[in-house]
Amino acid sequence: MSSVIEAVRPMEDYLVMSEAELDERIAAAKRELGSRVVILGHHYQRDDVVRHADLTGDSYQLSVMASKTDAEFIVFCGVHFMAESADVLGKPTQRVILPDLGAGCSMADMATIDQVEDAWEQLREIGVLDQRVAPITYMNSTAAIKAFCGRNEGVVCTSSNAVPLFDVYLKNFDKMFFFPDQHLGRNTGKKFGIPLEKMALWDPHKELGGNSPEELLEAKLILWRGHCSVHGRFKPWHVDQIREKVPGVKILVHPECVHEVVEMSDLNGSTSYIIKTVEESPAGSKWAIGTEVNLVSRLADRFPDKEIHLLAPDLCMCATMYRISPQSLAWSLDNLVEGVVVNEIVVDDETKHFANIALARMIEMTEKK
Ligand code: 13P
Ligand code: SF4
Repeated sequence: MSSVIEAVRPMEDYLVMSEAELDERIAAAKRELGSRVVILGHHYQRDDVVRHADLTGDSYQLSVMASKTDAEFIVFCGVHFMAESADVLGKPTQRVILPDLGAGCSMADMATIDQVEDAWEQLREIGVLDQRVAPITYMNSTAAIKAFCGRNEGVVCTSSNAVPLFDVYLKNFDKMFFFPDQHLGRNTGKKFGIPLEKMALWDPHKELGGNSPEELLEAKLILWRGHCSVHGRFKPWHVDQIREKVPGVKILVHPECVHEVVEMSDLNGSTSYIIKTVEESPAGSKWAIGTEVNLVSRLADRFPDKEIHLLAPDLCMCATMYRISPQSLAWSLDNLVEGVVVNEIVVDDETKHFANIALARMIEMTEKK
């Protein structure tokens, strides 16, 4: 849920300001608000926004880091589900702001709580829930879906810890229903040797997700038909092309890419893993990276002694994350200075409670590993 409060400073004023003026306003508002505000910048955020961030990181890390500060206001330069997670994990006194409410995540939007609850009921009707089925959701999902997992013995996972969590759940449950990213689910399932025939794909727009009852009863993994439009743009031919063009190049991709690309790559892992791998690689090493372009460009700038390419030659940008601009950041901060909280993201208490149960399970199970 987000609340739209009348801004004392209208957004239109900011659309005509120069870059220098916007930078100055952001810096002045930060000085004025001091430790009352913390600005979070996701790794995929554009340069002209991320340079104003107090903390940078991946979505889960950022929420945890913000919850450990005493800031009253968390301004999340990321997308909607990330701001919700910051509200779920934050202190009760902390208020979360998303500078542009249009900054959604197309993948998270592919699974609504109504669709997920309906799918669960359909599975119950055909007897699939007589088996032990665990719902598992990727961090890139609404707080309501995280809460659904919390209520039903399930868990939240990130791209960093999907493997240890699958390990626990595959040992303790008959099957898993994975939301909303089919590719992370499939790529992780493959690491455990689950054959593709045992992975059913659930299309929320079709009866029984487009499967027969037998297929669903037999499946080990049911994958929600969601995907990331950014990572979906990397194709197997990009891998062939860059290997031919740059001898000795290593392919490093995010597990949101299709499984053919992940299988052809040398290494795959979360955004943090990608950064760490490049940081630790020797000078002169050559990388073609399959993830969001802002992250790849910053790595290329940081490491001029390494040869860093974007895996696809065309622009693979998270267009919704790009909605957060210096204009919307300056606008939300200036309103805070005036005592007005614009674009607040509020998760209701019950959803927060159950989402926290799923997140607490994630932390407990990954710490045990
Ligand atoms: P992280 O969880 O690594 O921040 O990734 C978020 C994301 O949106 C990847 O596409
Ligand atoms: Fe969502 Fe993909 Fe953007 Fe990540 S990169 S926020 S999964 S649309």
